[in-house]
Amino acid sequence: MSVAKGIAFGKAILFGEHAVVYRRPAIAVPVSNVTAQATLRTGPPATGFWIDAPDVDQRYALRDAPADDPLAAILRLTSRHLGKTLPPATLHVTSTVPLGRGLGSGAAVSTAIVRALAAFWGIELDPAEISPLVYEIERLHHGTPSGIDNTVIAFEQPVYFIKDRPIQRLRVAQPFTLVIADTGQVAATHEVVGDLRRRWQADPARYEKYFDQIAAIVNQARTLIEQPQADMTALGSLMNDNQRLLETVGVSSAALQHLIDIARQAGALGAKLSGAGWGGNIIALVQPERAGDVAQALAQTGAAQVIKTTVQ
Ligand code: PMV
Repeated sequence: MSVAKGIAFGKAILFGEHAVVYRRPAIAVPVSNVTAQATLRTGPPATGFWIDAPDVDQRYALRDAPADDPLAAILRLTSRHLGKTLPPATLHVTSTVPLGRGLGSGAAVSTAIVRALAAFWGIELDPAEISPLVYEIERLHHGTPSGIDNTVIAFEQPVYFIKDRPIQRLRVAQPFTLVIADTGQVAATHEVVGDLRRRWQADPARYEKYFDQIAAIVNQARTLIEQPQADMTALGSLMNDNQRLLETVGVSSAALQHLIDIARQAGALGAKLSGAGWGGNIIALVQPERAGDVAQALAQTGAAQVIKTTVQ
């Protein structure tokens, strides 16, 4: 019997979601407080290849899984890519990245599985090789993903991302603190993205202008983040500006707005939704000494989960 493990962090988009689908830049960071884990165990009693995903109450044989099953798909794709045959084994998958809440759960699970398989076969995989494999599975979930999730999760670095362009690492000159709070509401990214696409198709000039405004915010944020002695108040204001545009393009929600208001009232420098919207998480930029107060206010007013994290 042998055991091989893979792990991957979650992620948060700091600026530029949705506009990134339309080839504007976005900024995303890994979130190491939440992780997906994949453990491959070979040897008896496994006959054939089994997938065990207790978080979603599933245990099934790979040979019975349909082509669009995301776990089966990443297993098949990775083994084909590496020119290997899957052994009789059980793949155990667990994740603390909440599902469908904008923290990259799908990409984290896929990345953990790729890493477990690579570890099993003793292959060193470069992030640049992992990321496109995970992107293929993101396409099953989302249809037209920008590729930001697989990129930031495979590279485990803050990124300044533009679709179909080489990855640009973001240098965080001065670490900063985020509080991430979950509405508890699940939204399907492809539905939010599809809804916005219909509005864009009906009035492209108007939406292109909004996406340009978001791109300008992303570029200003990048400059601030890469500056030593960054002006955090200005960075917080940019988050608020980005949120106003996300509301304008129709991807926010009452529950998101409620948590954003609570975070700002509790002293956050700025707050916005993160990810696809209509549910999922908000992120708030906070002075480290205010993080506890902001987190507590969010937890007390109904956030399903609150995470404090440092971006560096
Ligand atoms: O919430 P997530 O992790 O599914 O991210 C969505 C980000 C979008 O910009 C809305 C879509 C994309 O493909 O980039």
